[in-house]
Amino acid sequence: MIFFLTFAPQFYYSMKQTVLSGIRPTGNLHLGNYFGALRNFIKMQHEYNCYFFIADYHSLTTHPTPANIQGNVKQVIAEYLAAGLDPELCTLYVQSDVPEVAELYLYLNMNAYIGELERCTSFKDKIRAQPQNVNAGLLTYPTLMAADILIHRAHKVPVGKDQEQHLEMTRTFGNRFNRMYKVDYFPEPVAFNFGETLIKIPGLNGSGKMGKSEGEGNAIFLADTAEEIRKKVMKAVTDSGPTAENQEKPEAIQNLFQLMSVVSNPDTLAYFDEQYNKCAIRYGDMKKQLAEDMIVFVQPFSEKIAEILKDEAYIIKVADQGKEKARESASKTIKEVREIIGFRKI
Ligand code: TRP
Repeated sequence: MIFFLTFAPQFYYSMKQTVLSGIRPTGNLHLGNYFGALRNFIKMQHEYNCYFFIADYHSLTTHPTPANIQGNVKQVIAEYLAAGLDPELCTLYVQSDVPEVAELYLYLNMNAYIGELERCTSFKDKIRAQPQNVNAGLLTYPTLMAADILIHRAHKVPVGKDQEQHLEMTRTFGNRFNRMYKVDYFPEPVAFNFGETLIKIPGLNGSGKMGKSEGEGNAIFLADTAEEIRKKVMKAVTDSGPTAENQEKPEAIQNLFQLMSVVSNPDTLAYFDEQYNKCAIRYGDMKKQLAEDMIVFVQPFSEKIAEILKDEAYIIKVADQGKEKARESASKTIKEVREIIGFRKI
C-alpha cells in the first residue's frame, strides 16, 4: 500500500501527454495573444505536462545582434506569469538556457534537405523581407523549431495556422529520424487548440486582426496604462453611422462590437446593438464605454506585470527553475539520441 501511494503520483505524471509551445521574445502581449493562445495555455497546464519557452535562439535569425535580449526575455516572462502561467504547474524556460536543443538541431540538420527547407513559405517570406541577410539559420529555422518540439518528445503543439507548415516539417524530420535509425523514438506532434474555437480579436484600425505590427494604435497591450487604452480606443476607426434600421455592420463597426463582446457585460453590448439597429448610435459613447471596460479588464494584468518586473530575483528564480526542469527532460532525449546514432556515451 505504501509502495502504491508513493509510486502513484509519478506514474500519473508520466501518463500525461506533453504539450509544448514557443513564444517569440518580443514583449508586449496584447489582447489578441491573450484570447488567441495564452488563455488556452493557462487551462492546459492543469491537464498536460506543459513546456512553454521563449525562443531567443530563433530571434537571431532575424536580429543577429540583439540590443537587449535579456531585458526582452524578462519582460516576456513577467507578462506570461502575470497572465496566469504557473511555474509550479508548467515548465517555463528560456530556449538558450537549454543547449541540448542546439545539439539536437545539429543532428536534425543532417537529415533535412536543402530543397524542402527552401520551399518553406516562411523562408520565402523572410528572404523577401531581409534580402541582405539570408543566413543559414533562416533556412534552418524549421529544424530548430523541430528540435524544440522533439527535444521533449512533445505530442501536442498549440500554434496558429501560420505555424502549420513548420509542424508538418517537424513530423517529417522526426519520422525520417525514426526511419533512418530504425527506431520508433519520436512521436508525431500535432497542432492543438484544446478543443475550443479560438476567439478572434480584431484590431482597432478598421480591418484585420489585432497585431503588434499592424500599425500604431491597433493593439491593446496587457501592459497598457488606462490613459493609453483610452487614447487608442477613442481613435478607433468608425464610419458616419448606419443609414437604415437593422443594417448590416461594416467591418470596422463589427470589430468594435466584437471587442465589446469580450470585455463588456452582455447588457452593455445589447444596449449598443439596439442603438445601432435604431440608427441612434453615438460611436463616441460606445468607445468611451468600451475603453472603460477594457481598462477594467486589462488593469489587473498591467498591475501584475509591473509588480513582477520590480522583483527581478523572482523572474530569475522562475527562469532557473524552468531551466532545471527543461534540461532534465532534454538531456535524457539527447543521451538517447546519441545512443541511437551510435556516438560514445559522454
Ligand atoms: N515559430 C514560432 C512562432 O513564430 C515560435 C516557435 C519556435 C515555436 N519554436 C517553437 C512554436 C516550437 C511552437 C513550438 O510563433
